Amino acid sequence: MYFDIANKKFDEIKDKEDKVILAVESSCDETACAILKGKEIKANIIASQIEIHKRFGGVVPEIASRNHIMAIQNCVDEALKEANMTLDDIDLFAVTYGAGLLGALLVGVSYIKALAFATQKPLIAVNHIKGHIAANYIANPELKPPYICLIASGGHTAIAHVKGYNDIEILGTTQDDACGEAFDKVARVLGLEYPGGPQIQKLAKLGKPTIEIPTPYKDVDTYDFSFSGIKTAVINYVHKLEQKGEQIPREDLACSFQEKVTDIMVNNTIKCAKDKHLKNIVIAGGVGSNECLRAKMDNAAKKYNFNVYYPPIKLCTDNAVMIASQAYHSILAGVRPVDIDLDASANVKITD
Ligand code: KG4
Ligand code: ZN
Repeated sequence: MYFDIANKKFDEIKDKEDKVILAVESSCDETACAILKGKEIKANIIASQIEIHKRFGGVVPEIASRNHIMAIQNCVDEALKEANMTLDDIDLFAVTYGAGLLGALLVGVSYIKALAFATQKPLIAVNHIKGHIAANYIANPELKPPYICLIASGGHTAIAHVKGYNDIEILGTTQDDACGEAFDKVARVLGLEYPGGPQIQKLAKLGKPTIEIPTPYKDVDTYDFSFSGIKTAVINYVHKLEQKGEQIPREDLACSFQEKVTDIMVNNTIKCAKDKHLKNIVIAGGVGSNECLRAKMDNAAKKYNFNVYYPPIKLCTDNAVMIASQAYHSILAGVRPVDIDLDASANVKITD
């Protein structure tokens, strides 16, 4: 019954350019709600749990779930208030169903299902990583597929050929750690707070890239990544100096690590863009806010005559605008609403 009504309503509004989408994101440690009217941001509320998880040095899944439960109603209320709207103004809902922490995802999915059912309005399920990519359509309205996308987040690192709004081919992917994970682990060893990326970026500004770090896949022709050897090289370096009671050159280590990781990501991305003969390069995900990565990508793009797009910092890390944006654009690509039995899923592939 719900699904029939939701589908009928969806058919009535799917071609409306300024349809109003309320989206919820709760895959990790940010509870977020956003409202888009067409491509215009009407509200963007993010309740971050970073301060809560800091003392544990990383996200504790059970604590994340509990805090999502406490925050979600306020986030939605705040978003409606910011947009000066009521639920009557919303055409459809969107939610991140995966990938992420299962318990955390379940909060957003259960909440939005209740909302969709109570209002009998359609619901679009969104892949979190596709959401990160779609943040770029809001930040850069002229951007359209096809393009090469570097996906650089806490849970994923990949290079994708984005052929359509919902059509992605993965060209290379990390074989071990995600780049954000490596940033966070190296930060921890250097005594920096979670999340490590912004802290490493800050510390690296005071250092020089004087410490040699091995380059993975040096003579291998691949678009794949590997960050675990780089991370281990830094950890071993620190441990050796600690054993000898010597001072750790934290600034130089942060700088050398950041230089190596960003070099690899830029080189791989440029190689893909050249090989695929695509002019546009897009950066997505939390590590995409790294200043060093952006500067290097801009320089390389200038050299080879590519265009580079990335979202502002607030849309790079987890938010719900990106989820609403992917819902909006996947509808253009023919995606239909889901039924009320939608389940959260921890392990969703980027291409799902
Ligand atoms: O995309 P994201 O918000 O969450 C996932 O979907 O995983 O990415 C979070 C990751 C964390 O590992 C964080 O340390 C990293 O993005 N990050 C950064 C920076 N800002 C956030 N890494 C490097 N430099 C930054 N400025
Ligand atoms: Zn994310």
